[in-house]
Amino acid sequence: MYILMRSIFNLRALRDKGRQRVAVIIDKSTGVDATEYVRVVRPWQRWLSIEAVVTVPDSLAIASLESWLPAGCQAVVVVSEHKSLLHAVKQACDRRGLAFIDSSYPVGPSRTVSLLQEVAHHDFEIGAVNEWDGQPTKYSWCVLQELSYTHCEKVFPRYVLPYIEGFQQRRGGGPIETLDIGCGPISVLRWGMLQGLLSITGVDPLLDMYQIVLERHGLSTLPSIFCQRQLGIAAEDLRQYVPPSSYDFAFSRNAVDHAEDPHLLLTQVGACLRPEGVMVLEFSTREGTKENWMQLHQFDLYVNAQGTLVSETRDGVCSPLVSEESGLYLREVVRSDKDYTVVILERQGRVSDPLPIRDRIATAQSSLAGTRVSHRAGLFRGVYTGIKQRVKSFTQ
Ligand SMILES: C[S@@+](CC[C@H](N)C(=O)[O-])C[C@H]1O[C@@H](n2cnc3c(N)ncnc32)[C@H](O)[C@@H]1O
Repeated sequence: MYILMRSIFNLRALRDKGRQRVAVIIDKSTGVDATEYVRVVRPWQRWLSIEAVVTVPDSLAIASLESWLPAGCQAVVVVSEHKSLLHAVKQACDRRGLAFIDSSYPVGPSRTVSLLQEVAHHDFEIGAVNEWDGQPTKYSWCVLQELSYTHCEKVFPRYVLPYIEGFQQRRGGGPIETLDIGCGPISVLRWGMLQGLLSITGVDPLLDMYQIVLERHGLSTLPSIFCQRQLGIAAEDLRQYVPPSSYDFAFSRNAVDHAEDPHLLLTQVGACLRPEGVMVLEFSTREGTKENWMQLHQFDLYVNAQGTLVSETRDGVCSPLVSEESGLYLREVVRSDKDYTVVILERQGRVSDPLPIRDRIATAQSSLAGTRVSHRAGLFRGVYTGIKQRVKSFTQ
């Protein structure tokens, strides 16, 4: 079950090895369709070339396999659970010095297994079918909202709009460069992209798999379904890819507590923010405990009785989440209760850099764009109303 996606998950091990010419052998009994395999991996065509696909019975004469393998291919993928077939192909690969990719559950560090489970979770919710048991999924209505051009506004965190407006004033208009840390397959900030408010860099170690998931469900051509820039990395490595002080705004929903090292993650994001830049964190309070410390849920995050944002591990080691080294401080607790937490962190320091000339030109241009400006004015009136309502509901 789910063997197609397991196979593709294992195949991604080749992605950093340059362009790969690959042959695919599909065991007929798996029910995986050869055309479907080729269709689903299309987003990886920059590095992956499927040279040949064959569907075979579970026992295969090894001689015919050897003669079938296309010349010049570097790896063979086998979609099968039959040990004899896997063994035969592995031997043929070893003889010819080819990489061998099976479709088993990943071995090695359990985090890899958890990442596959994370992919499966999103794949099932997006497709509305739990492919383990064939039952309908629980949260697909949320996914539908995220996919809807109209209703993705409902999942957008409207309380951040005054910050965005502030950054736009400072930068002279235009979309605000934004990091969505652990953005998942569909950024909850998508509405901001569609409105031209945000230009988003999505950061998530599974982004390449999410390309596959969206392609699989036929959704990858929807407008702004992908972030403008995609960094398929763990955010703990952010500074290797992003220059320091280059973003005004970072957002993360339900992801910091999925990281391997949430403290390091915040330090890295802090370094990428400009002085007075803002990071908004949303998470389910004490998610590690709620999820019984399963899969990627290895941390409890919460605001303690002293008003400090802390991280606690399963064995009770508790420490402030925001270190001095990160350059961030806790500016505001928007919500903190047993269900959910929303906090706003700010990068210390003063804005000293005057607007670059390019940005000043953009300011002048945006003030000429009449319709857009008046549309925004209406938008922000709505925002402030929204904030009042939200504060009221939190204090009730
Ligand atoms: C529950 S999903 C949340 C997705 C999205 N933010 C949302 O709210 O729908 C958690 C995401 O965090 C990502 N993640 C896990 N470890 C990460 C890390 N070290 N850096 C960035 N993202 C990470 C996972 O791959 C996953 O896509």
